[in-house]
Amino acid sequence: MYLEEISHTAGVTLVLCVFAVLLLALHGRRREPGCSLPPGPTPWPLVGNLFQMGEEIHLSLTNLRVQYGDVIQIKMGSLVVVVLSGYSTIKEALVRQGQAFAGRPDFFTFSAVANGTSMTFSEKYGEAWVLHKKICRNALKTFSQAESRDSNASCLLEECICAEAVDMVEALKKQGDERYAHDDKEFLTIVNTNNEVLRLFAAGNLADIFPIFRYLPSPSLRKLLQYIDRMNNFMERNITEHLITFDRNCIRDITDALIAMCEDRQEDKETAVLSNSQIIHSVVDIFGAGFDTVITGLQWSLLYLIKFPDIQAKILQEIESQVGVNRLPQFKDKPNMPYTEAFIYEVFRHASYMPFTIPHCTTDNVTLNGYFIPKDTCVFINQYQVNHDMDIWGDAEAFRPERFITLSGHLNKKLTEKVMIFGIGIRRCLGDSFARLEMFVFLTTLLHQLHIENVPGQELDLSSTFSLTMKPRPFQIKISTRN
Ligand code: HEM
Repeated sequence: MYLEEISHTAGVTLVLCVFAVLLLALHGRRREPGCSLPPGPTPWPLVGNLFQMGEEIHLSLTNLRVQYGDVIQIKMGSLVVVVLSGYSTIKEALVRQGQAFAGRPDFFTFSAVANGTSMTFSEKYGEAWVLHKKICRNALKTFSQAESRDSNASCLLEECICAEAVDMVEALKKQGDERYAHDDKEFLTIVNTNNEVLRLFAAGNLADIFPIFRYLPSPSLRKLLQYIDRMNNFMERNITEHLITFDRNCIRDITDALIAMCEDRQEDKETAVLSNSQIIHSVVDIFGAGFDTVITGLQWSLLYLIKFPDIQAKILQEIESQVGVNRLPQFKDKPNMPYTEAFIYEVFRHASYMPFTIPHCTTDNVTLNGYFIPKDTCVFINQYQVNHDMDIWGDAEAFRPERFITLSGHLNKKLTEKVMIFGIGIRRCLGDSFARLEMFVFLTTLLHQLHIENVPGQELDLSSTFSLTMKPRPFQIKISTRN
């Protein structure tokens, strides 16, 4: 009798356990009728697919596309991630179903940037966010169109970029093989701190993947939070100084442009959803996104220029015919120099040094390519795969700027728009045209003044290790002045 009771209780417990497991499984796999969840490699308990990804996550995920297709699901620890590849699939998601893919995941590290008010990382997608991005875009426009104090430049942006490019060349001429030294040491410290923040973000912080790590002592998380705090403090001081010395008739930089935006909107009730402080703090987003990305693009460009001297010679030919020797390159030269532009696009494509966009998150339940993706799912966009897709590029592994030049010698816009480095759609990079102008002026000014070449015996390696912005491996350049 006693034994019978035990076996009855055990039987009930077993049934309840099976029922609970089924409920959990069903809960985890909620879906639209007729739609399945995206396929993907089987996750291991606890760590998910983390160890199957290896060091080069972009390459592993590009390979997985061959087996599973454009929409795949993986698990990073406890975090479910949907990875999108393929130009048309990414366009369908980020452009045609843009709003549903426009969120950012609720990462612990993201919430620390700009004390949780970052337009890029932490603000929830919605009406206020749309307005915030518009204000940032307008501030960049105000700054770039502000009148230049120098009669040779068409606008303040051109004046600033050309002056920096000349300073860089002068410093290189003077210092030979020493590093480019900027006068403002605090500024340099902040640029370096910003780069460290991006590096640690990319290291796939464990606290974002396993929430338990937020509460355990972790040196890299502590360092990341310290760096973010240092950036926040620097920006606070910078903003306070700007507010004291602000003159709306003399816009000096992007912080001034943001302050002007706040003054202009006082009567506009619609904009009351954002505080002035939130708007001015957008300078953190713009600063954070604009330095490391352009610098890394220039580092890769230098590597390709010395690796392929014939390509350098063709760019020089264009500089000689369009700019000449009596003045320096300017913004107006860019449309007349398709080969140089093609070179910059080919650097973006071949190096693909931002292999993924910043992670996205679904803002609603959504169906893509017949697969169901629930609201609040973290989404990675594999830009590297698009840039190396044989179906688009044919010889994707070759470095060949000519691929972007039409038979009539113009830039092939249909092809350049397939280079994916700035993201696309609602979350597209705010500074893409800025960045292209900066890279154009820096590179052409450098080559106008200096000859750069590989040092004898140095093997040039075009590979790099995975990061949010992937750097080339260290290399040396030999510089000489042009006659
Ligand atoms: C070659 C240089 C650059 C590259 C490769 C680059 C790339 C990117 C990428 C991949 C994203 C994420 C897009 C997404 O999540 O879908 C992004 C976002 C962003 N970028 Fe850039 N960027 C560059 C330069 C700049 C510059 C110069 C600025 C500012 C002047 C800037 C401002 C921003 C901002 C504010 C965002 C956040 C947009 C959002 O969250 O909606 N970027 N950028």
